[in-house]
Amino acid sequence: MPIASAKQMLQKATDGAYAVGAFNVTSFVQMLAVAEAADQARAPVIIQTSVTPAKFYGPEVIAAACRSLAERVTVPVCLHLDHCTDLDFCKRCADAGYTNIMIDGSGFEFDENVRVTREIVEYCHSRGDISVEGELGTVTGVEDEIVVSEDSSALCPVDKAVEFVERTGVDLFAPAIGTAHGVYATPTPNIDYDRLGLIVELVHGMEQKTPVVIHGGTGLGNEVVRRLIELGGAKFNVSTDLKHLLLDTTAQYLEANRTEYNPGKLDKAVKNAHLERVTDWMELLGSAGKA
Ligand code: 13P
Repeated sequence: MPIASAKQMLQKATDGAYAVGAFNVTSFVQMLAVAEAADQARAPVIIQTSVTPAKFYGPEVIAAACRSLAERVTVPVCLHLDHCTDLDFCKRCADAGYTNIMIDGSGFEFDENVRVTREIVEYCHSRGDISVEGELGTVTGVEDEIVVSEDSSALCPVDKAVEFVERTGVDLFAPAIGTAHGVYATPTPNIDYDRLGLIVELVHGMEQKTPVVIHGGTGLGNEVVRRLIELGGAKFNVSTDLKHLLLDTTAQYLEANRTEYNPGKLDKAVKNAHLERVTDWMELLGSAGKA
């Protein structure tokens, strides 16, 4: 099937009280593995790229590869651009075939965040079924080239959530609630569950229930993940986990097979490791069997 838009996929997840895994990939082997894992698990899935890999391959190449994979499998696959601060690049990715764009205006003051997010919403919506994710408050840690220290992080103000969604027209809302990009020091970090609960209640009470996105999936304990989904998280972002898996699997394979010189076998090892890990995530998130 064609690449799916995130909006409908996540409205369904919101109603069904499960989350769709949104997996950041940096290579085609990872992209292939995520699509195949989704197909095998009968799970809707979001493949996402940060800005650096999107620029490295070119969004047109990534979209073409994803389109071809999406046509090969029988579950909905969405292609998402993650944390982009560059308006022109957001637009280029939308034109190239990405079906969900995250404009990250969280580094700006509220009104400027609204303005840039609104601009991308108008652009994407005028071009068809392309949905947009916006963020309010800042998620700490490192995601691609965006580095936010704990000091400069601000959680999403509850009283601004509805205004942000209304004024921007975003399809998906990512509030900062204390989760972080990268590796946590503990599997039970300081997450503001009450804040998430209040925000979800507010944005689900709007004329159109707006699906809520959870950033910083890597390293959270299973109970934490389940609680975030119970509270309304419908898109669950996982990036660092797959970056580590890619590099660790590669290093281990090369160490064990140093004189083999057969890249195809290395690709297979990397793919198999991802099939297993992504399937585990889909079972935990409750998306397995939902396509
Ligand atoms: P992690 O790198 O912590 O998994 O976070 C992923 C994320 O939120 C990407 O936007």
